[in-house]
Amino acid sequence: MSNYILLTGCSSSIGKSVAKKLSEEGFNLILSGRREEELKSFSQSLNNSSTHKIWVCDFKTENIKESLESFIKNQEVIIESFIHIGGLFTLKPLRLFKKEDINDIFQVNVFSAIEISSLLSKKKYKSNLKNIIFFSSISSIRGKSGYSVYAAAKASLSGLTKNLAIELKPVKVVNLVLGAIMTEKTKSILNSNYEDINKHIPLGIGEPEEIGEFVSYLLQKSNWITGQDIIIDGGGSAL
Ligand SMILES: NC(=O)c1ccc[n+]([C@@H]2O[C@H](COP(=O)([O-])OP(=O)(O)OC[C@H]3O[C@@H](n4cnc5c(N)ncnc54)[C@H](OP(=O)(O)O)[C@@H]3O)[C@@H](O)[C@H]2O)c1
Repeated sequence: MSNYILLTGCSSSIGKSVAKKLSEEGFNLILSGRREEELKSFSQSLNNSSTHKIWVCDFKTENIKESLESFIKNQEVIIESFIHIGGLFTLKPLRLFKKEDINDIFQVNVFSAIEISSLLSKKKYKSNLKNIIFFSSISSIRGKSGYSVYAAAKASLSGLTKNLAIELKPVKVVNLVLGAIMTEKTKSILNSNYEDINKHIPLGIGEPEEIGEFVSYLLQKSNWITGQDIIIDGGGSAL
């Protein structure tokens, strides 16, 4: 059996960038998302492609714990780090949200994080687990119109982080709170008002590659960090 990093959201811009960086560093990866073909072709583009595995799971509709547990058993993998990049970003005024939309946003951003962490905290898996990294958003601490439900879901990851860092110690649990990063998902919003947004971020709008570098640092370098929200926003929230 070999050690693996479980990465959700591997078909996203940030997920791909983190996976690429970690594959270059020699890690074995479990790439997760809903689109199997996309994940397969992405996996083939990575270093050591034959070692990576693909776990296809729709967090809205499937039993996440059952699916992951049978994957772990069938594939004989040891999960050493869980990096939850998968997310559902829906922006609209609160009055337009239906109950199903709200459930979906919480299911993909938060409940999946809880279910996967819960499975990996079972005795037989926890002894191998070293890191949990969640992906949150600066909207969870800086208000913006249209972001309320997404921000509420992402804000829950902060509470989860602090409490799991205590409950699961010595597993390190951190929550990366991201500002504006140019991705497939955000490019239409960011490009529609590029100059204005960029000038309000001291280091400018971010790129996915910067996140891969930081995740690699967290996993590999000795650091005394757990239970924390780590803001990565180019200084936007300092203004
Ligand atoms: N970009 C930014 O500026 C920014 C800022 C703050 C926080 N973030 C957070 O950073 C993360 C990555 O963001 P991104 O902009 O690169 O990409 P994104 O397009 O928002 O990423 C979505 C990812 O989540 C997966 N996903 C969506 N619904 C799912 C479901 N029902 N079941 C399983 N997986 C599902 C998608 O996979 P499928 O291929 O299956 O759809 C995709 O890989 C997200 O958590 C996002 O909230 C991003």
